[in-house]
Amino acid sequence: MYCKKNKIYLYIIFDLKSSIIITFFISMNSHNKHFQKRYLITAALPYSNGKLHVGHIAGSYLPSDIFVRYLKLNQANAMFICGSDDHGVAITITAEKENKTPRETAEFYNQKQKENFVSLGINFDIYSSTCGNPFHTKTSQDLFLELYNKGYFDKIETDQFYDTVKNKFLADRYVKGECSYCGAKNQNSDQCEECGKALDTETLKNPISMLSQTPAILKKTTHWFLDLSKSESIVAEWLEAAEIKENTKNFVKGLLSTGLVKRSMTRDLTWGIPVPLADPEAKDKVLYVWFDAPIGYISNTKELCQRKFGSADKYQEWWKDKDCKIYHFIGEDNTIFHAVIWIAMLHAEGSFNLPTGVAVNNFLNIKFSNTEAAEKISKSRGSAIWIDDFIAQGGDPDGLRYYLTMIAPEQARTVYNPLDYVTRYNSELGNVLGNLVSRVVAMVNKNFNGIILNLDPAKLDESSKRIFGLLKNTQQVVGENIENYYFKSALEDVMNFCRQCNRYLDEQAPWKLLKTDQEKAQFILSWTINLIKDISILIQPFLPFTSAKIHKILKINSYALHWNNIGETLPEMQIGQAEILFPKIE
Ligand code: MF3
Ligand code: ZN
Repeated sequence: MYCKKNKIYLYIIFDLKSSIIITFFISMNSHNKHFQKRYLITAALPYSNGKLHVGHIAGSYLPSDIFVRYLKLNQANAMFICGSDDHGVAITITAEKENKTPRETAEFYNQKQKENFVSLGINFDIYSSTCGNPFHTKTSQDLFLELYNKGYFDKIETDQFYDTVKNKFLADRYVKGECSYCGAKNQNSDQCEECGKALDTETLKNPISMLSQTPAILKKTTHWFLDLSKSESIVAEWLEAAEIKENTKNFVKGLLSTGLVKRSMTRDLTWGIPVPLADPEAKDKVLYVWFDAPIGYISNTKELCQRKFGSADKYQEWWKDKDCKIYHFIGEDNTIFHAVIWIAMLHAEGSFNLPTGVAVNNFLNIKFSNTEAAEKISKSRGSAIWIDDFIAQGGDPDGLRYYLTMIAPEQARTVYNPLDYVTRYNSELGNVLGNLVSRVVAMVNKNFNGIILNLDPAKLDESSKRIFGLLKNTQQVVGENIENYYFKSALEDVMNFCRQCNRYLDEQAPWKLLKTDQEKAQFILSWTINLIKDISILIQPFLPFTSAKIHKILKINSYALHWNNIGETLPEMQIGQAEILFPKIE
């Protein structure tokens, strides 16, 4: 499904506006898409230690939602899996700050995040949690044991960061320091957010304990290490075949070229999944959160299957049958864990499907009008736009989905600018899409009592044929762009089509025809209503609320509409009244 061809078609068409070329491409492209039997799409499990901001949404949740909606519109059997990542230090630190237990913290933010997602129309088939899912502990421990029994772990006495004031081992975020690869300061001790490299005791400089703010020392402790160097060729092989963006592929190649090392998969912590070994030295140790978190994708699938089919065991059809394709959507800082360690884990276990694709987005920076330059989104510095605030202030969820897709950090970090949001909302959603719908619907109601005619596509005039050609091409190119994770291009293609519809309308000027040729006027308006119906399908993955509003206006049933219905003509029918889709914002 992943390919880089086809991107140029629409541009050629728009530039030359030649119906000959259009017809040529239509005939080339008009095969009916064949979708695989099953798809399992996951979005990175967010840590349940805070509410969600626009950066989270732009990173993995919106793109995955668009992808899944598109698959479902094509009647593919797709499951959309998510839930919170509740273990590890990210949660215990917040719990300490907020005077709660880790479990209370996880449950509280899990609920908040769930509400944030629902408010934006991000519709997971399940939103579970790694500390609440009844299958998760066993699934994680079984996978650990399988790798253990196969000899993938080395038990090693090593140096770990230790706080001499608090007398505690310091895992991951409990220590911050300087990345010895790129020099970035204030990095967590397990990973550098700037360069994406995994860090360790030797590669984190000037370590400071977050518990006492004193320098962390090294102290001996025993842990179980996964020797990733054994999986180098497996990861490289997987990478070659994977549906993965070029920049991600190059990043992973870079990681492989410097060689993979042993990584500890256990921690000296009390919050987490107990290490399932009888060894006395495993006592009071838990699995590394990055070991159990991705296994959450599997446990959450089990929970969903239990709910949906009454059998958790059905998860095998998604994780073990070869006719299921798995896609992971993640943010840039998660790349090493999904495209290297997770692949190594799954391959070592041996019975699970490896992911078909991993879709990675970069971070989103933010630029407020009172700041000089764009900066990183940071909750501590207050430079974030929170989803619940956005909604509470009357923000339009589709407006946000639109803007975040149009500025999607698909190739590099991009910038959210609240002023830019307002401009694009008004001038693109309002003036292009909203205006098209409201003027056509109003004219049909005013002049024809809301009645549109059933039209025969074979009998279209030249310019109506031309716009029909553009429609079929847009359908094709948008589909391909979505399948290749080019969500921004896909939405641009849809908007360009809306612009073409407005131009078509201006050229045909049905408001003039009303005085001279009523029949032609009704024809043009009926045809444009058909195009609006098709636009409502094209936008559904991106703007689901607007799509549903258009269906309500046209009095057509959303559920009866599929990607394949694009281009099919409506019967003679009466449509409803117009409503303003995108009220102007200041
Ligand atoms: N909690 C991690 C983060 O927010 C993502 C975990 S993704 C999973 O960066 F695969 F591990 F679940
Ligand atoms: Zn670094």
